[in-house]
Amino acid sequence: MQPLFYPFDRQSIVIPGPTASQSSIQFKTEKTDTKMMSNAPVKLDNMVAVPLESFFQGLKADVDVYIRLADEKFVLLIRSNESFDHEQLKRYQIKNLTHLHIRKEDYSVFIKRQIIIAGIVVDHEQISNKKKTEVLTHTASDIYKEIAELGINEETYHNAKQITQHIANFIETQERLTKIFESLSQLSDEIVKHSIATSLFSTMIAKQLGWTRRETLEKINLGAFLHDIGKKELPPELLKKSRDQMSRDEVKEYESHPYRGMMILNSMNTVPQDIVSIVYEHHENSFGQGFPRRLKDMNIHPLAKVVSIANTFANLTIKSHANPTPKKAPDAIVYIELTMGQPFSKESFEALKAIVFSTKQKQSA
Ligand SMILES: [Fe+2]
Repeated sequence: MQPLFYPFDRQSIVIPGPTASQSSIQFKTEKTDTKMMSNAPVKLDNMVAVPLESFFQGLKADVDVYIRLADEKFVLLIRSNESFDHEQLKRYQIKNLTHLHIRKEDYSVFIKRQIIIAGIVVDHEQISNKKKTEVLTHTASDIYKEIAELGINEETYHNAKQITQHIANFIETQERLTKIFESLSQLSDEIVKHSIATSLFSTMIAKQLGWTRRETLEKINLGAFLHDIGKKELPPELLKKSRDQMSRDEVKEYESHPYRGMMILNSMNTVPQDIVSIVYEHHENSFGQGFPRRLKDMNIHPLAKVVSIANTFANLTIKSHANPTPKKAPDAIVYIELTMGQPFSKESFEALKAIVFSTKQKQSA
């Protein structure tokens, strides 16, 4: 069982709701009764699994929350507008419970509330950076899942934009890379973990480069978060393989994901071209040996250059199927420089290097 999560003083905060009809999140201390059965039949296809950590002790659930007892057997745990209480889970004695379930049609309401909570948590001075990182990474993970379930549309795109803005605000106050790595390591979905990591590192590099325009930082946050969106269209088995395990055809298919991502975002007609370019060019490199277009340095979009090195740095330092023994951040810098021959923009590499080594100095001070 995960430890109970008390994000802040429950008596002191009221969180405004996203719409007038949803009024506000109230903090309650009284217990509510568990409902043993839902009024309506529940089918697996209509449900979305949500990590347990996304439910906050003492907060109104806002949507009906179910516990899954068997493949098609769901029991209503908390009704909408009732407070969530982890104690209620003990009644079911399910070992290693990691997820609860909500109906697909309720997912947007749930996500909107998570984003509001994440924003408040990030701005709250009394909450530790560790907790903030946890909330941000779990909310970002929920949003990535929303995109996977519902596809990219105006609403899911907007949600992604909001969470990456919270991530950017958080980075303003974050000095230690190790806390970020700790929190990311708790996430199980590899694409989500990688996307959040790339967004965090891209934002740090952009700031180290002295980029301060809010619009630029927003684009880089969001473009980095969505950079692998094209992988949605690739077979999951392919994504578990490292590059040297792929056949020639599989490599070709894998290398199509930046193009697929560009097409997905362009189909919305509202995504800024800078963000589309990040997604399309995040595997290009300065030597002209990247993919899919083998662009040379001067032809690569400046924001894509940052995301490109952040992407590689995340691949090297975050554990995954393809990288079961991740490198420490300083070792990854040495690897990029000596083994890979530093194929990235010089300025971006120097910025990343400065972040990694100044962090190390602060930690040993
Ligand atoms: Fe990629």
